[in-house]
Amino acid sequence: MAAPRKILTVFGTRPEAIKLFPLVHRLARDDRFIGRVCISAQHREMLDQVLDIAGIVPDHDLDLMTPGQTLDALTARALVEIGKVLDLEQPDWVVVQGDTTTVMAGAIAAYYRKIPVCHVEAGLRSGDIHHPWPEEVNRRVVGSFAALHCAPTTTARDALLRENVDPAIVHVTGNTVIDALQWVTARVDNRLALADGLRALEERFAGRRIIGVTSHRRENFGEGMQAIAKAVKSIASRQDVAVIFPVHLNPQVRAVMKVELAGLDNVALLEPLDYPQFARLLDISHLMLTDSGGVQEEAPALGKPVLVMRETTERPEGIAAGTARLVGTDADRIVRETNRLLDDPAAYAAMAQAHNPFGDGHAAERIADLLAAS
Ligand code: UD1
Ligand code: UDP
Repeated sequence: MAAPRKILTVFGTRPEAIKLFPLVHRLARDDRFIGRVCISAQHREMLDQVLDIAGIVPDHDLDLMTPGQTLDALTARALVEIGKVLDLEQPDWVVVQGDTTTVMAGAIAAYYRKIPVCHVEAGLRSGDIHHPWPEEVNRRVVGSFAALHCAPTTTARDALLRENVDPAIVHVTGNTVIDALQWVTARVDNRLALADGLRALEERFAGRRIIGVTSHRRENFGEGMQAIAKAVKSIASRQDVAVIFPVHLNPQVRAVMKVELAGLDNVALLEPLDYPQFARLLDISHLMLTDSGGVQEEAPALGKPVLVMRETTERPEGIAAGTARLVGTDADRIVRETNRLLDDPAAYAAMAQAHNPFGDGHAAERIADLLAAS
C-alpha cells in the first residue's frame, strides 16, 4: 500500500467548520491519510460551537480573531501564520472550503510553497465582485490555481470550465453541507436534549408561525442591515407570527438588530445557536429570511421556503428548484414577499417542497477518494 498522504485541512469560520467536519471525520478514520487540522480561528465562539459538536480538536489553533477585525489586517496575519504551520507540517495537500479570508489566505500560503490545494465548494459564482463582498473574489482567487476543484453541483462545475480550468481536475462531489446536516439531524432526533434550548421558545410562541431570520453579509452593513431590521419589525406587527433571530456576533450586525428589534414580544433575538439547535430552528420554522450561503442550501433540503435577502446569489439551484427566492434588501419588498407566503397557501405550498440540489450526503466520501487518487 502507498504511504498515507498528509492532508492539512485549514478553516476559520462557522460555515467552513460545518462544511468540513464530515471530511475531517472521514480523513481521520481512513488509513490512506494522515489528517491534520489547522484553524485560523477567524471566528472564535461561533467556530468553537461547531468544533465542540463535531468533536474536533485542532492540531493548530492560530487564534487570530480580534473584535471588529478588518479584511486587510486579518488577511495579512492569516497568510503569515498559516504559512508557518505549512512549513512545520509540510503536508501533501491543503484543503480549504468556500470563500472566506482564511480560505483565500490559506490557499495562497500553500501556493507560495507549491503545495497543491484542494478547493471544496469550488465554482460558486455570482458574477458580481461586490455581491457577496469580498467572497466572490476570494473564491475566484482560489479557483485560479487549485489543483483539485470539488464542485458541489454541475452549475458550479460549468462555471469553472467556462474559466478554462482543466476538466481533469474538476469533479462534481455534492456539497458537504448535506453530509453535515444529515449527521446533525440524526443527532437531534436521537438526542433531543441537544435542541432543548429552543423548547421554551417553542412553548412561548405556540400557535404562531415561526419565521427564522439570519443576516451577516458585509455588503449589507449599514443601509442593508437597517432595511432588514425594519422589515422584520414590520413582519412582527402581525400577531400570527413570531420571529426567532440568532444574531451573528459581528458587531456591525448586533449594533443594528439589538437596537431596532429590542422589546418586541414576538421577536426573540438569540445568541448564535449551535448547529443542532439551528437545525431544529430550520425544522420548526414556517419560512426563513436570510442572507446566508449555508442556509440557502439547508432550507431546500428540508423543504423550507427561504427568502434570500441579497441582490445576487451564487446558489441558483435553490431558486431553480423553487424553494428559494431572491428578494434583495428593500424593506417593503421583504415584507411583501413574506406576507405573500403567509397569506397565500398556494404560493407557500409551491415553495415548501423538499429538494436536494446540493448533494446526497456522500460528498466527503467522494472528496476523500479524489484526494487519494490525485
Ligand atoms: C465571515 C466571512 C464570511 C462568512 C461569515 C460566516 C470573510 C471576509 N467573511 O464574515 O464570508 O460568510 O464569516 O459567518 O471571511 N465575531 C465574534 N465571534 C465570533 C465570530 C465573529 O466576536 O465567533 C465578531 C468579531 O468582532 C469579528 C467580527 O465578528 O471581528 C467579524 O468576523 P469576520 O470573520 O471578519 O467576518 P464575518 O462577518 O463573520
Ligand atoms: N448556523 C448555526 N447557528 C446559527 C446560525 C447559522 O449553526 O445561529 C449555521 C447554518 O446552519 C449554516 C451556517 O451556520 O450551516 C451558515 O453560516 P453563516 O450564515 O454564518 O455563513 P455563510 O453560510 O453565509 O457563509
